[in-house]
Amino acid sequence: MKKWKIALVPGDGIGPEVVAEGVKVLQAIEKLDNTLSFEFERFPWGCEYYIEHQKMMADDGIEQLKEFDAIYLGAVGYPGVPDHISLWDLLLKIRKGFDQYVNLRPVRLLNEELTPIKNKSEKDIDFLVIRENSEGEYAGAGDWLFKGKKEEVVLQTGVFSRKGTERIIRYAFEEARKQQKSLTSISKANALNYSMVFWDEVFEEVGKEYPDVKTESYLVDAASMFFVMQPERFEIVVTSNLFGDILTDIGAAITGGMGLATGANVNPERNYPSMFEPVHGSAPDIAGQGIANPIAAIWSVAQMLEHFGEEEWGSVVVETIKEIIDEKKVLTPDLGGKHSTSEVGDYFVEKIAGKL
Ligand code: NAI
Ligand code: MG
Repeated sequence: MKKWKIALVPGDGIGPEVVAEGVKVLQAIEKLDNTLSFEFERFPWGCEYYIEHQKMMADDGIEQLKEFDAIYLGAVGYPGVPDHISLWDLLLKIRKGFDQYVNLRPVRLLNEELTPIKNKSEKDIDFLVIRENSEGEYAGAGDWLFKGKKEEVVLQTGVFSRKGTERIIRYAFEEARKQQKSLTSISKANALNYSMVFWDEVFEEVGKEYPDVKTESYLVDAASMFFVMQPERFEIVVTSNLFGDILTDIGAAITGGMGLATGANVNPERNYPSMFEPVHGSAPDIAGQGIANPIAAIWSVAQMLEHFGEEEWGSVVVETIKEIIDEKKVLTPDLGGKHSTSEVGDYFVEKIAGKL
């Protein structure tokens, strides 16, 4: 019997609402498969915790999470706590503390009615964005000089280390080789004359070790256009932290919106737990109404199962999501349905049980 220990950090707003549904799915799988078991522990960290304790997580939070096999996160951020605090003191602390330098964000269209793009179908929009997740534009390096004065100057420095750049690009080449797909690097060397020139050089250098992988290289502005106009160009994409963040929101938009997009924060060496989360935020505009779409969070469960080596269960989860979307019977309002978050979760569990 394989036993996986999962730390739950539901966070704020709709975070706890959607995480509850993902947990439901894992518990259903546990019932169906007697070789698997999951153990959950819940951590109350986030903005409410901050308001009470003046910190986003316990001082030894990283220590506490270390012993888990995975972290399942909802969303953090809520009006009343500045976003840079909630992001830096919880999410980025975990990503950096656990060296989760790979962010895997699938951009996969499950049903052609979900895309706002004309004449594109499932086969045209099916790629994986591999985003650098530990440094780059999110390194937090900079300065704020003469604050509030006329001469005020702000510096935000991108940090691209040889180690950090090489390992993400190498990871992407390995993935492309494994999946026998092309690899596209997205950068901006014409304007960012240090960091992105370096990025492009490393991409070319590492690429020499992978002559079997077909490569492309685009500037981020052109790539943004292609994401919308010709998404079929992409199979596997590797890009920097900020570009990856922005591009994957376009990815979410062309595949059905924030209610469907998922992301895994992975420490490939497995020295630390990896973290699985829907891409969306805490959605204060709909929080507490029970109408958040849980599918993104359930898709994160599929990524977690793949990470655990349970690829078959991962595919079952994604296929079940597809069936529910195709049926159009039980969906939340963002996808044109009338059902609640927990009704979608319950229906999912029913479908998955019906399969075996
Ligand atoms: P958001 O993703 O929370 O919401 C954007 C829009 O998408 C809203 O209209 C929302 O109702 C809708 N939406 C999002 N998830 C949905 C779902 N599951 N079902 C149906 N509709 C959904 O982004 P926003 O409004 O920019 O940020 C809100 C808060 O979340 C901020 O405090 C922000 O810092 C935080 N945030 C946290 C993230 C994280 O924890 N990873 C990521 C993005 C934002
Ligand atoms: Mg984002």
